[in-house]
Amino acid sequence: MHVLVTGGAGYIGSHAALLLLEAGHRVSVFDNLSNSSPEALKRVHQMSGSAPELFVGDLLDADRVTEVLEITKPDAVIHFGGLKAVGESVEKPITYYQNNVVGTLNLITAMESAQVKRLVFSSSATVYAESKELPLVENAQRDASNPYGRTKLHIEQILEDLAVSDPQWSIAILRYFNPVGAHPSGNIGEDPQGIPNNLMPFIAQVAVGRRNEVRVFGTDYPTYDGTGVRDYIHVMDLAQGHLDALGYLNQNTGQYVWNLGTGSGTSVLDVIGAFSRACGRQLPYELVDRRPGDIAEYYGDPTTARLELGWKAERGIEEMARDMWKWQSNNPSGYPDYDLEGIPEDELNKFIRGARESLPETK
Ligand code: NAD
Ligand code: UD1
Repeated sequence: MHVLVTGGAGYIGSHAALLLLEAGHRVSVFDNLSNSSPEALKRVHQMSGSAPELFVGDLLDADRVTEVLEITKPDAVIHFGGLKAVGESVEKPITYYQNNVVGTLNLITAMESAQVKRLVFSSSATVYAESKELPLVENAQRDASNPYGRTKLHIEQILEDLAVSDPQWSIAILRYFNPVGAHPSGNIGEDPQGIPNNLMPFIAQVAVGRRNEVRVFGTDYPTYDGTGVRDYIHVMDLAQGHLDALGYLNQNTGQYVWNLGTGSGTSVLDVIGAFSRACGRQLPYELVDRRPGDIAEYYGDPTTARLELGWKAERGIEEMARDMWKWQSNNPSGYPDYDLEGIPEDELNKFIRGARESLPETK
């Protein structure tokens, strides 16, 4: 099938694009490259032997979204495109509501006019209300504690209303737990801009010498070792979940929600331990106060995805750390920093296909 992947140059999207191409699907990517690089797509091409086609555009540009849907006429859309930094969303809530909610409205409006009614959406475990009842199941109470989380909650509700209004739609809402790791080759991975907010990318930068030590936020949580516990999920397992969801949507109309997690939690200290083993040295850490807004523990129940999609996380924390280390040590500064200003889309596609050797790098 032909799949349009919004945000397909980003962290999770590039891994999903790779798996789609390897499975023989055709991939078009719609991305404004605000938090990603064409280098990721070039590497996806090198690894899969098939080039994704990049359409540079912004989800806020409704005409462009409509145009790309009309040109590509995909069988389905996977919608990763969006902003995801919790702290930034508190500072710039309007930007987040615009980008994520209005961007999604533009996408589904354009899909409707192009008669494309199959959609997989990247939601997050952040839509769950804080709960003592663990693991979290899909019908647990929802509530979000920050603007980013609320954009995901609003989008889920919009998609539910859409599916009720028109039974021709097939919609999968995938609630990711904590995505980490990289492709085992180390060729593609997460490339956060600035100081990473999330634990695993921070640890990876300590391991590679870009930062001095990990700060462990809180040691007095009611968890098995006092530090925060999360359900880390390998990005390759997560990416596979999208292919399985697409397969399901090919056979079923309606709207579905699936947790994508491992079903068990790992503490901050155990993540540092796994990464230390992966990189071959004990990584330095400091025990500090809790981070405001954090909760002690959460992990998801992935049973529905296993029963309905046949999907299950195959990789554990050791593989997550090993693959993340491979990516970080092969690419200590992430992807090259290209100056994309003024470079036309067809030149970017030549670069992705290997027909144009390089792009200008900024210092
Ligand atoms: P990412 O930032 O690496 O990828 C998002 C991509 O969307 C980027 O390539 C970015 O350039 C693009 N994008 C952003 N706004 C756009 C716009 N207006 N128009 C076109 N393209 C736009 O992030 P990711 O980690 O790959 O996350 C993908 C999706 O999964 C996001 O929707 C995110 O909210 C969701 N999610 C991520 C996590 C996580 O921890 N990584 C957890 C839960 C959910
Ligand atoms: C964060 C987001 C959540 C998002 C998720 C994606 C917040 C409040 N929530 O969740 O919306 O879906 O990322 O993966 O930002 N920690 C440290 N030191 C660090 C960084 C983190 O000890 O330098 C701890 C945290 O306290 C937490 C655990 O590590 O216990 C994981 O943190 P993080 O990777 O930021 O993810 P979440 O807080 O679960």
